[in-house]
Amino acid sequence: MNLEGSRVLVTGASRGIGSALTTEFAAAGASVVLVGRDVAELEAVAGRTGGVAWQADLADVEQVHALVARVEAATGPLDVLVNNAGVENAGDFVEQSAAAVEGTYQLNLLTPVALCRQVLPGMLSRGRGHIVNVSSLAAFSAFPGVAVYGSSKAGLTQFTAGLRADLRGRPVGTTIAELGPVATGMLARLMEYAPTSDSFARLYRLGLVADVQPEEVAQAVVAAVRTGRRHVRLPRRTAVAAQLASSPRRTTEWLLSGVSHQQAG
Ligand SMILES: NC(=O)c1ccc[n+]([C@@H]2O[C@H](COP(=O)([O-])OP(=O)(O)OC[C@H]3O[C@@H](n4cnc5c(N)ncnc54)[C@H](OP(=O)(O)O)[C@@H]3O)[C@@H](O)[C@H]2O)c1
Repeated sequence: MNLEGSRVLVTGASRGIGSALTTEFAAAGASVVLVGRDVAELEAVAGRTGGVAWQADLADVEQVHALVARVEAATGPLDVLVNNAGVENAGDFVEQSAAAVEGTYQLNLLTPVALCRQVLPGMLSRGRGHIVNVSSLAAFSAFPGVAVYGSSKAGLTQFTAGLRADLRGRPVGTTIAELGPVATGMLARLMEYAPTSDSFARLYRLGLVADVQPEEVAQAVVAAVRTGRRHVRLPRRTAVAAQLASSPRRTTEWLLSGVSHQQAG
């Protein structure tokens, strides 16, 4: 997709990967709508990138309701949706509150699905669009302390693969970003829970993962939207594991080639 003059909605745009994504999309000529809770931080990024700050708590179902319609009424049609906002809530599952568990699934899985549902009819009727969902290595590996986070991301990865099957032959693309450790506040918080940080320390020592900078993620995501790439897998050394994890889905895709993916009529 040519991003010059396009409109992109980035959730969780106030800091971390979302802030870097906003900068990179703006540099590619897009107008960005930045969604998050912290207005001061959103406005600071919006000011730097010429975007529009839009305050919303995406863990609150009421605030997610008709969000795309409200944003589009105020700013114009969206060409790209980036579901980036997320929370890790690392810790022993046995000690987690029901509210924390539900909030994690809401923000990391149910809200991205809701925003896809809201944005797709317009994109399909305009014949143009792209959706990026930001997932994690934790979607296909099992670390202590992130049972809820990992399963929310596994749901998002699988949803994106299923959505891609629904959209086959239609003018809206998808990209799933499957990320290892990225140097942001989230990674710092994850490292505060010893069982999670000890597990990461082992993988760092074995050379299986390495930290990636948010700017590198943002460049890869924007390139993927431009070229219609279905995956962003960083750091690159985790790509083989991600490929292995997705092999049953790829096999099904191959087995179903030639089968219609839309209902006739
Ligand atoms: N960092 C990593 O190592 C890593 C690895 C794999 C995947 N990821 C994924 O990458 C994405 C971005 O993570 P990050 O590392 O950039 O995290 P971060 O630095 O903690 O930033 C999270 C962003 O999400 C927003 N957010 C959090 N709760 C929200 C809510 N209830 N409503 C609206 N926005 C909310 C935050 O903005 P406000 O506080 O202003 O609301 C912030 O902009 C997440 O989906 C994460 O799971 C990160």
